[in-house]
Amino acid sequence: MEIVAIMGSHRNGHHTQKALDYFLNKIEIEHELFVYNVNKIDVKACIACDYCIPHQGECVIEDDMREIYKKMETCDLLIVASPVYFSAFPSKIKALIDRTQMIYNLKDKSVIKKKKILIIGVGGAPHYPRQFQAMDNTLEWYKKTLSCDEVGFVQFSHTDELPALENKKCLEELAEIAEKINTLSAKVN
Ligand SMILES: Cc1cc2nc3c(=O)[nH]c(=O)nc-3n(C[C@H](O)[C@H](O)[C@H](O)COP(=O)(O)O)c2cc1C
Repeated sequence: MEIVAIMGSHRNGHHTQKALDYFLNKIEIEHELFVYNVNKIDVKACIACDYCIPHQGECVIEDDMREIYKKMETCDLLIVASPVYFSAFPSKIKALIDRTQMIYNLKDKSVIKKKKILIIGVGGAPHYPRQFQAMDNTLEWYKKTLSCDEVGFVQFSHTDELPALENKKCLEELAEIAEKINTLSAKVN
């Protein structure tokens, strides 16, 4: 199976990356992994030029999205791991999500493989209503565009006091989801 993980924190090696790595380490089945760390890729903002409407499947901007588009389209499991900044996606990963407009504009979506998606949200503050609501709203159309079936949205709150790797409840949720994926894929193969 092919796994694509997008690491959306502007800090390498902090809570978001640790939670993502925790999950990835629980995947026991054979897989190919492509991790896109927003701090290490060149992804420019969508310029809303509409080039992708007459030029189906193409984006006018030359950057790493050329590769990421293909991987997001055809992977089996997509993971979006991100902190919230001002209760929303931080700017770098939001730019990547916005660029998915190229795929949204495809008239023939047969190249888009049906896939599973796992979302990992991280917030420094104690849990509050709507802490991850904006992420959820943004991902509604991202998931539809990429033909995703959600396997979980694990929400790590209060990382300012409770490091992600000490949040037992969320780690258990991640382990359960990994177990489900291991079992499902074992049945398919
Ligand atoms: C610019 C900025 C805005 C933030 N806004 C929020 C917020 O609205 N709600 C929240 O719970 N945490 C907020 N935080 C805290 C981060 O979500 C928290 O530090 C998280 O652990 C960051 O992920 P990381 O550890 O992977 O870097 C904010 C942090 C920054 C830098």
